Amino acid sequence: MNKLRVALIGYGRSGCDIHGAFLRSPANDICTVVALAEYDPARAAVAKEHFGCDTYSDYREFFKRDDIDLVVNASYSNEHFPVALDLLNHGLNVLCEKPLCKTPEQAQQLIDAAKAHNCVFTIFHQYRYNDYYDKMLELLDKKVIGDIKLVRARQSFFARRYDWQTLLYREGGAMRNNAAHTIEQIMHLAGSDELPKIYSRMEIWNSVGDAEDYMFAVMEYSDGKKFEVEVNPSDAYADGCLFDIYGTHGAMKVYSSKILYKYFTDEECPMFPLDHKSLHKPDGSPAYCTNNIKWHEETVAVSADVMNAFGKCSSRFYHDLYAHMTEGKPLFITPEHVKAQIAIFNEIERQNPLPVRFSKPE
Ligand SMILES: NC(=O)c1ccc[n+]([C@@H]2O[C@H](COP(=O)([O-])OP(=O)(O)OC[C@H]3O[C@@H](n4cnc5c(N)ncnc54)[C@H](O)[C@@H]3O)[C@@H](O)[C@H]2O)c1
Repeated sequence: MNKLRVALIGYGRSGCDIHGAFLRSPANDICTVVALAEYDPARAAVAKEHFGCDTYSDYREFFKRDDIDLVVNASYSNEHFPVALDLLNHGLNVLCEKPLCKTPEQAQQLIDAAKAHNCVFTIFHQYRYNDYYDKMLELLDKKVIGDIKLVRARQSFFARRYDWQTLLYREGGAMRNNAAHTIEQIMHLAGSDELPKIYSRMEIWNSVGDAEDYMFAVMEYSDGKKFEVEVNPSDAYADGCLFDIYGTHGAMKVYSSKILYKYFTDEECPMFPLDHKSLHKPDGSPAYCTNNIKWHEETVAVSADVMNAFGKCSSRFYHDLYAHMTEGKPLFITPEHVKAQIAIFNEIERQNPLPVRFSKPE
């Protein structure tokens, strides 16, 4: 099939630096950018220079055209829902940035509109295409550290944000902005779209807005799998890994550029029989359980594609979306899955009501 004719809404960090970075790159052999809507004329001019596309300040100008195969909605988060709904109701296929919308009911409205108008509709959770994530899944499937008991995921850095992502009316905040990716990965690792049991905290530590910049949640699934997720804006060292995984036969540390794991085998280290009495050393003095574990340690290098270098993940996302639209390959991120993610957000927000202190200036 011919290249997809793409229209972008928003040419900021996402529209320009993530989607645009792929769309401008040699890896893009599948899309041509034909139109862009951007409130900011200077950013629109940059897009025109990049793509030679038509530019507008209002995305509704797209409705006058008949040459758009896909609209990428990289607008402000609070505009995702009304804009996506309008696009779908006009019969346009939509790739929407995360966070998709405020409530599961809104997500359902979008799903219904996509069905009614026979539109392709997906959400940009490109983190799932990271090499570290694929390799981690492969190793966990092989049970290299045994059965998984706990997964701790984090996004830690030092941040004092003062932009729209710190505002509740913009649907910003650490959960919807940062943890959205991690929570989506956790849902995939859990293999379930159910609403887990959740204990959570959300607080404002360093930012000037009214949305949380710190969030922590424990998510426990009905099969007993447990996950923790934290976004920590006070980690000045920022030397932690993305995932700490604990299993019955060892542990794993997942970084964007490497995976470390340490494990033992039952053959080399069989379990001791249960002893109902105190333990003794050979000389008769008190002893602690001597596991005598023979540890093995492995390091697997993976090629990083995070923070400002999203090219590879974006390319994989777009190529799969292209295959979905042209060959009927299953959709990688379904809106039903993301609806379940929004239900998790709502439960965390229910547990941590934050007062709205700002509204949009006139
Ligand atoms: N998937 C990812 O990894 C990722 C990374 C960054 C941002 N995002 C998401 O992308 C969205 C945009 O974030 P950003 O960092 O690019 O913000 P940004 O402030 O850098 O840029 C947003 C741009 O969109 C324009 N805009 C907003 N709404 C518009 C509308 N309705 N019509 C026309 N122009 C509009 C603004 O003028 C601005 O230039 C957010 O929802 C954010 O959560 C996703």
